[in-house]
Order: sequence, then structure tokens, then C-alpha cells
Amino acid sequence: MRKLLMAGNWKMYKAAGETTAYFEKFLPLVTASSHADIVICAPYVNIPAAVAAAAGSRVEIGAQNVFWLQEGAYTGEISGPMLAGVGARWVIIGHSERRQYFHETDEAVLKRTQAALESGLRPIVCLGERLEEREGGGTEEALRAQFHGGLARLSEQQFTRVAIAYEPVWAIGTGKTATPEIATDAHRHLRGLIETRYGKQVAAQTRILYGGSVKADHTKGLMAQTEIDGALVGGASLDPVSFASIVNF
Ligand code: 13P
Repeated sequence: MRKLLMAGNWKMYKAAGETTAYFEKFLPLVTASSHADIVICAPYVNIPAAVAAAAGSRVEIGAQNVFWLQEGAYTGEISGPMLAGVGARWVIIGHSERRQYFHETDEAVLKRTQAALESGLRPIVCLGERLEEREGGGTEEALRAQFHGGLARLSEQQFTRVAIAYEPVWAIGTGKTATPEIATDAHRHLRGLIETRYGKQVAAQTRILYGGSVKADHTKGLMAQTEIDGALVGGASLDPVSFASIVNF
């Protein structure tokens, strides 16, 4: 049985003071939510404030990216040991906004994932098709290409530490959530790819989250699908009450 993982991706929102205020409201609403692992992925500079505010609770903190080397002359980059050193436990890798605006490749996703694992961070690796790929009947091929270009090159031992987020690009920030049926089909396809590469047991234990306009009122329908093992939530994770109602669906 896979434990649900409910993760918030704050993207480039909230300053340090807002971070602390968020946890004051959020934590009491999820203290009893033992049905799920709960993660908030904050902007780099707010990770220490988030870690301090969430200390002693069941909420863990993550980052939204990580560089693939440990240290060096790479102006502006942040490494795995730096993130682990301030108490981050998770990291989002390969988000479609990074692929789209910062030319992130599957090769970079692989290197970042390996670096995260070497630092003891748990990666949440994102993949998903673009609207034109879906409309052209190319969803499965897009997912296959992303999987084989990056994740499938991890060793089995590395792969078992990874959670996957299926985030169809057309559903992100658009209010157009994938239906439970659409998400289930994509998750099934992904689990099949995992099974072919890593075997039945690994496929059965891999958590595949859904992300893309997740809101409180349709979380129940998504989480009712056995293929869906949690959610990666953008906009609706910015408000503590709304994210708590998603966690507690
Ligand atoms: P929204 O929930 O705002 O659509 O964002 C989804 C997402 O990109 C999470 O990583």
C-alpha cells in the first residue's frame, strides 16, 4: 500500500514573514492528518524559516530545484548539501516551468535527481505532456520520452527513493484539472514504463502524484483512484486553509 504524499509547490511566492504566518495557521489543521506525508516546497531563501516554523510537526520542507554539483564556481546555483544543511528533505525536479522557461532537459533532470539522492534529499520528479502533444495523440510518447531520457537511467536503488509527479502542462495554472480518468490513464502508462524498466515490485511501490489545478473540491475524486498517490499543488497550496482541506480532502 502506497502512502499518500501531498506536496505544495509555492513557486516564486511568499516572503519569510509570510512563511512563518502560514505555518501558524496550517499546522493545527494537519496535526491529525496521518493518512499522508505532507511537504511544502518553498523558495530557497525561505527554507530556513519554513524548517523552523514546521519543526516538531509532521510537515517536511522541500526545495523547488537543485544543482548537480556539490560546490564550485557556479554563480547563483544551490547544491544538495546546502539544502540538506538547512533542513530541506525533499526537492522538486524537472518542473514544466523549468523545462519551458529555463530550457531544462531530461539529461539535466537526471543529473539533478542523482545529486539530490547523493545528498539524502527525496526527489519529486515532474513529467507531463504539453497541450499540442495531447491534442495530437502524443501523450504516451511524450511521457515515454521524458521517462527514458531521464529517470530510467537511475539505478534501481536510486529509483526507489523517487516520487513522480504527473503534471500535464495544459492543466498547470489554467483551472483545467485533468479528470480522474485522464490522470488514471497517464499514471497507468507511467507505472507500466516503470514496471518494464524496474520490475513489478518497484512499480507497485512508486508513488505517482497528480499535479495541475488541484483544488479542494475535486481532490476527493482524484484521490479515490488507486493509481493516484497524492497531489502536487501550486496555487491552492498558497493559502493554509485551502491546502489543509486538500490534504484532508
Ligand atoms: P497549479 O496547482 O497552480 O495548477 O500548479 C500546479 C503545479 O505546477 C504544481 O507543481
